[in-house]
Amino acid sequence: MRIAMIGTGYVGLVSGTCFSDFGHKVICVDKDAAKIARLQAGEVPIFEPGLEALLAKNTASGRLTFTTDLAAAVDGADAVFIAVGTPTRRGDGHADLTYVMAAAAEIAQALTGYAVVVTKSTVPVGTNRAVANAIRAAAPKAEFDVASNPEFLREGAAIDDFMHPDRVVVGVESKKAKKVMAELYRPLSLREFPMVYTDLESAEMIKYAANAFLATKITFINEIAALCERVGADVKAVAKGVGMDGRIGDKFLHAGPGYGGSCFPKDTMALARIGQDHAAPMQIVETVIKVNDEVKRRMIDKILDLCGGSVRHKTIAILGVTFKPNTDDMRDAPSLTIVPALVGAGAKVRVTDPQGRHEGEALLPGVKWTESPYQAASGAHLVVMLTEWNEFRGLDLAKLARKMAEPQMADLRNVYDRDEVLEAGFTRYVGVGR
Ligand SMILES: NC(=O)c1ccc[n+]([C@@H]2O[C@H](COP(=O)([O-])OP(=O)(O)OC[C@H]3O[C@@H](n4cnc5c(N)ncnc54)[C@H](O)[C@@H]3O)[C@@H](O)[C@H]2O)c1
Repeated sequence: MRIAMIGTGYVGLVSGTCFSDFGHKVICVDKDAAKIARLQAGEVPIFEPGLEALLAKNTASGRLTFTTDLAAAVDGADAVFIAVGTPTRRGDGHADLTYVMAAAAEIAQALTGYAVVVTKSTVPVGTNRAVANAIRAAAPKAEFDVASNPEFLREGAAIDDFMHPDRVVVGVESKKAKKVMAELYRPLSLREFPMVYTDLESAEMIKYAANAFLATKITFINEIAALCERVGADVKAVAKGVGMDGRIGDKFLHAGPGYGGSCFPKDTMALARIGQDHAAPMQIVETVIKVNDEVKRRMIDKILDLCGGSVRHKTIAILGVTFKPNTDDMRDAPSLTIVPALVGAGAKVRVTDPQGRHEGEALLPGVKWTESPYQAASGAHLVVMLTEWNEFRGLDLAKLARKMAEPQMADLRNVYDRDEVLEAGFTRYVGVGR
């Protein structure tokens, strides 16, 4: 099959690369000429484990190419994927569909024969129909169907998620489009990964419902963590005991500084707005959004408490600023709330992150970037574990403590045990919900 992938970001680049590895011929398109130039030169513009090698293999085979020329990519394609961003619209919290509809308008002008226009971006219910209507209005003679194919990959494990999905969701209305989608995903269905075929609206809804549920699960355990702190329970033990119940499961039950990232914040917000628009308020999701904001604020209070109520003139070492490990993505990371609050309150903030500096430098003004946790902690009054990179899981705690002016740790990911931290020479340890 021939695929045009419109939008070569985290989702488009990974999906395009994996589809080419399935044996399809993929042309990835982006408006960002600098990004395309880097990809054409064999450089990977994002940090995603395993992507560089898979990309090199498939570009070498000639199955994977990159261009800024949308029309050339769409010409002759069996499937045209829309994988552009759908950020929060300024002012009202709805998903901003500007990029999706702009891509649809360009695709309409470029279609040359029958193609399935597949929306991979996360979009509100009704968007696939709006895309179909826009293309039909702009190019009444174009032969096409639309399909909804939301993506569930996680940054940091994106290739594995794409190649070994829990399920592939496809919303389609015609047999012809279903056949194309089945062919695209044949390498997965042959290996018995489940394909869920449904209507357009249900496919669109599945993505928002899944993300909202996961955000709810995280927020639930974060709220339980707050109560654990008051009553003397340990949320790690609680989560373990709860998660062993097969009806609940142990994933997404790790207490921490609140969810962030490129999806949960914007998707929960968009779902809440969709509910309001249709007089079916998403009360649980609206509460989750509110509680998640409070969780982040609670982390700032924790840090202030450890510093005796004020961080003025205190040096604070922040370990990890990306929204989770194994990605360089900073979108809506908890660090973007917590670090500026500390800088604003007069703290000297030193930051270290294995991949976050490139994105983070512009987003976190007033901090000093360092090359290692030990450099960050040198002379500090507090070290804050904010993103649980593997690099930070096996620290030489005694060495870290020796470098600090006041060896204290706020472990916002519950990576360490209190006893081992204190035995290593720290004077105070605070986790989340313990
Ligand atoms: N990042 C994730 O982990 C993830 C997971 C599942 C679903 N999603 C969804 O996938 C979509 C894309 O997310 P992302 O993180 O890949 O976004 P991204 O911002 O990393 O990438 C989007 C890309 O689209 C390009 N673009 C925008 N308009 C274009 C146009 N008209 N023509 C060509 N290129 C255009 C941009 O330049 C950018 O490179 C979003 O709807 C998101 O919600 C993301």
